[in-house]
Amino acid sequence: MCGIVGYVGSKDAYPILLGGLSVLEYRGYDSAGIALVNGKGLEIHKDKGKVDHLRSITHDVAGRGCTTGIAHTRWATHGAPSKHNAHPHTDQHDRIALVHNGIIENYSLLKEKMLKEGIKFRSETDTEVLAQLIGKYYEKDLAAAVRRALLEVDGTFGIAVIAHDRPGVLIGARRGSPLVVGVAEGELFLASDASAVVAHTKDVIYLKDNNLIELTPEGFDTTTLDNKKISPEIHTIEWSVDALAKGGFDHFMLKEIFEQPETIYNAMRGRLLVSEGVARLDGLNLVLPELRGIRRLVLVACGTSWHAALVGEYMIEEIAGIPVEVEYASEFRYRNPIIEPDTLIFVISQSGETADTLAALREASYKGATVLGICNVVGSSIARETHGGVYLHAGPEIGVASTKAFTSQLTVLALLTLLLGRMRRISNSDGIAVAKALEAIPKQVRKILRQNDTIREIAKIYAKHNNFLYLGRSYNFPVALEGALKLKEISYVHAEGYPAAEMKHGPIALIDQDMPSVVLAIKDSIYDKVISNIQEVKARGGSVIAVATEGDREIEKHARHVIYIPKIIPMLSPLLSVIPLQLLAYHIAAQRGCEIDQPRNLAKSVTVE
Ligand code: F6R
Repeated sequence: MCGIVGYVGSKDAYPILLGGLSVLEYRGYDSAGIALVNGKGLEIHKDKGKVDHLRSITHDVAGRGCTTGIAHTRWATHGAPSKHNAHPHTDQHDRIALVHNGIIENYSLLKEKMLKEGIKFRSETDTEVLAQLIGKYYEKDLAAAVRRALLEVDGTFGIAVIAHDRPGVLIGARRGSPLVVGVAEGELFLASDASAVVAHTKDVIYLKDNNLIELTPEGFDTTTLDNKKISPEIHTIEWSVDALAKGGFDHFMLKEIFEQPETIYNAMRGRLLVSEGVARLDGLNLVLPELRGIRRLVLVACGTSWHAALVGEYMIEEIAGIPVEVEYASEFRYRNPIIEPDTLIFVISQSGETADTLAALREASYKGATVLGICNVVGSSIARETHGGVYLHAGPEIGVASTKAFTSQLTVLALLTLLLGRMRRISNSDGIAVAKALEAIPKQVRKILRQNDTIREIAKIYAKHNNFLYLGRSYNFPVALEGALKLKEISYVHAEGYPAAEMKHGPIALIDQDMPSVVLAIKDSIYDKVISNIQEVKARGGSVIAVATEGDREIEKHARHVIYIPKIIPMLSPLLSVIPLQLLAYHIAAQRGCEIDQPRNLAKSVTVE
């Protein structure tokens, strides 16, 4: 997703804006740019390439004392990555400058109209259309011009706007694309993500959809797009700026893998009541009566969050006895799902901004469903639009490949399972057994992480292979999907995840000595079946890397390599079995020299469909 940073205050804006862009680099982008009000007018610098490149072509701008500016990292949608398509965009007379996240859906109609009026365009972007429109309406009041232009556009936007003759004025507005305002004494910050402002202030406003904010060094003025005054709430960011540093690790992904003992603990802290064998999820308090009466649950998500939902399905059906369906948000939103009064919907999203998940949430709400959220990013669109929900408290996830968010999602789903299970059919003592097992997870994860060197050595052996199969059954089938996804997204190696028994219905044809299989062979009720599946792979010359339960010596006869995880109840085994797969993917990608934290073509949060 593109990144926005804006500043108004008394300091030199340049280092603040460039520093903010560097923090947002993790989200994925292809060009970067900056606009400043410099006393004579607008000064724009932009180009294709990284923030460091922008820095190298603008170093003489530092120290000039421009105190109002905007900056952007662009991820191309309309028009190829290039200097002229990069943001900021201006109107034809360079009177206003705009950076924009989102998509202006009716841009071609608007552009056609403006071309007829003789307006000259310099890019192929939808964003320039909005810049030209604001420029057309701009006289003296920048907020009024932005408001008027936004009334004509369809689509989504998070924008920051400045004008050539208005030092000390910065306008932000949003619909469907996040904007955060950082509030400090005598200065204000605007960003698409709180991580870009946390170094300067922890007091933030999460701007709501269809709101516009005018920022000056003296303060802010918030209105709806139709100009009704509102008083936004100021929140405090709970995590510190250290979360944005690699902390001695080579990559954010590795740091986040190693953070999991803490992040899993944070997801259950204050929520797991071990002695009572129950979970307390305050964010669901309002819907507790509904939770008791539900007859069906639908879990909606994308990507890794969808894999977490699949594990949730296995957990909730087994322990709480409630039928669960798991839906891809992108499918759910465009079909006509059946939502009955006793159906409850959970949307799961790390970022809380995934366009398809947000649209699915809105579709379900429109049909009258109660929609609850499991999100990481506080104040995100999904967190705000749901009727209740549970935060992961995992801190910012910077690596594009999701790791700690996944295990936190599993933790929250386990808590939800415990809550629902105890309301329905599991006894106090069974609840206590699950709670105790959950409580032990952080320590067990720490133990698995100690095998990092061993896993790196295994990765070295397999780093040259171009095809992998990941197999698992029951609770570990979704983990096989997740392991395969991790490998393909960061190492560009083809990997397929399958329920182990499905292998013989097709994928077995692929197996030979060049296609290793990663098999989740955890000691559970179907362990023997998984061993049979391993035999099938071996019989075709395939190598097997097994993830198995400590104490299982038998597996060593069948697999070429074994990575052990501590003993755990089946329901919680994905929380442990996924860790070696995350490390394996990481080390294979590192061996192949891939750009692990910012894999090609991927963005951290997918805010377009
Ligand atoms: C994979 C990954 C993606 C996301 C997906 C949903 O590592 O990060 O598959 O899981 O884009 O994102 P959220 O959870 O933010 O809705």
